[in-house]
Amino acid sequence: MDFKFEIAKLLADAAGISPEDAVAAVEVPANKAMGDYAFPCFRLAKTFRKAPPLIAQELIAKLEQPAFLSKMEVVGAYVNFFLDKGVYAEQILRRVLSEKENYGKSDIGKGKTIVIDYSSPNIAKPFHVGHLRSTVIGNAIYKIYEELGYHCVGINHLGDWGTQFGKLIVAYKNWGSKEAVERDGIQELMRIYVKFHDEAEHASALEDEARLWFVKMQDGDEEALSLWKWFYDISIKEFERVYNMLGVKFDAYTGESFYNDKMAPVVEELKQKQLLKESEGAMIVDLEDKNMPPCLIIRKDGGTLYATRDITAALYRKKTYNFDKCVYLTALDQNLHFAQWFEVIHKMGYDWYQNLIHVPFGLVSLDSGKLSTRHGNVVLMEELLNQAISETKKIIEEKNPDLADKENVAKQVGIGAVIFNDLYNTRIKDVVFSWERMLNFDGETGPYVQYTHTRACSILRRAEELPTADAQIDFSTLSDEVSLDVCKLLEAFPAKISDAADKLEPSVVTRHLVAIAQAFNKFYHDNPILSSEPATRQARLAVVLAVENVLKEGLRLLGIDAPEQM
Ligand code: ARG
Repeated sequence: MDFKFEIAKLLADAAGISPEDAVAAVEVPANKAMGDYAFPCFRLAKTFRKAPPLIAQELIAKLEQPAFLSKMEVVGAYVNFFLDKGVYAEQILRRVLSEKENYGKSDIGKGKTIVIDYSSPNIAKPFHVGHLRSTVIGNAIYKIYEELGYHCVGINHLGDWGTQFGKLIVAYKNWGSKEAVERDGIQELMRIYVKFHDEAEHASALEDEARLWFVKMQDGDEEALSLWKWFYDISIKEFERVYNMLGVKFDAYTGESFYNDKMAPVVEELKQKQLLKESEGAMIVDLEDKNMPPCLIIRKDGGTLYATRDITAALYRKKTYNFDKCVYLTALDQNLHFAQWFEVIHKMGYDWYQNLIHVPFGLVSLDSGKLSTRHGNVVLMEELLNQAISETKKIIEEKNPDLADKENVAKQVGIGAVIFNDLYNTRIKDVVFSWERMLNFDGETGPYVQYTHTRACSILRRAEELPTADAQIDFSTLSDEVSLDVCKLLEAFPAKISDAADKLEPSVVTRHLVAIAQAFNKFYHDNPILSSEPATRQARLAVVLAVENVLKEGLRLLGIDAPEQM
């Protein structure tokens, strides 16, 4: 039953307005003393030619109190409605208990496809914490859309092509060795890559040499391509280790190199549509009418660019997946890049350019400012995740040394803490890494929500009989405010998921989970559960079971495990 709608229907009959107008007018008061719903009568003053408080009085006289309300009263120009806590709790709890892990799912996305371009690290450069955000936010968006019935296509648009490979080849030939690369993998590739930049500062011929190697790669030169492939394989192996730790998967690893043989026809199309212009030997699409710098399509030396590949990839994806939406997760500093090439797609005459959405996010910082590959002060993802796990293990050793399966729980909690920290604030905000804050079991953190979940599990484990969706339960025993608060938050869960999807903002879910956990802990503190008398106990256990269910499902949507003990 939709209480708001039921109340609106009563009001519509009594006031002689349309049900739609009534639904739109019913409010949820911020102050609980004003009821669970309220109907302001100001707008009716014109029609009835009476003072709003008087209208409120007349309205309430006409209303017959339905069973799901415990009270109706007039305060000033408002009619306030108070839900019967038991009836309300019953309807929401029975629903969660019967739908179980499907509670929150919907099919509004049925038949629609969303392509999600996320993670997309650059090969041969280390997978650093900057890419963590893209990975984690993209993964959550994937799961949230899937929950709503969308067909999701997760794509890792690896940076596996471009001049940096020319640089890497030159670096390898000058300062690298097969043994070292085989031994140290990506670390060694990064070392020689950084070395290239240091050396190139006073030897500009190196840059020219690197460009030549990249052109060779483009022309299919065997030596260039086999070196490239070698670097590629080494990098992918390391990325996959990190993805496994994070529990992240992709439907396609179509990186930039995938578009090598697909760019020429696109460049030709741009030419045909008279969008290409020559500028200082390069080919560009002019965007002056949009107040943007030109979009570079072909370099002076014939090389293609990041944007050329993105344009080609968008056309390919539209053809292959016929997406309704294609979203790109990168840091804020790529705003201009996306705005530019989206505009190129627009100028090509494709109206689906409107369904290309850049989803930017803020930076990640430790204490030492922005993280970058070029200068070598990067923190590798794997190191970071391992540190999260070992920090968590220390806490477990201290708080619960007898816990079974400590290794695994430390992984779930440590990695969960990193993911949660990343998804807690609106994505545009910068994320700061502070172990202390992230792992605080009492803060607004992953471990806090996970811990609350284990608390619910522990009560359920100790209960003799668990409530079921259709069991005889006296819900009128849930007559306190705190129980009602928990039920309201549970009821809001599905709406929060669709809100998160609309805004492409997983933090909506993250924050809601914290709110549920906080309300539940208050409920747990105020209400004895297992020791209360049977009627009350079963009703309270229904709350515990529903909360356990929603926290677990909510964490899953964020890509976080929910251990049963920690
Ligand atoms: N490889 C890029 C980077 O690390 C991100 C790619 C994002 N996706 C895209 N289609 N441009 O900055």
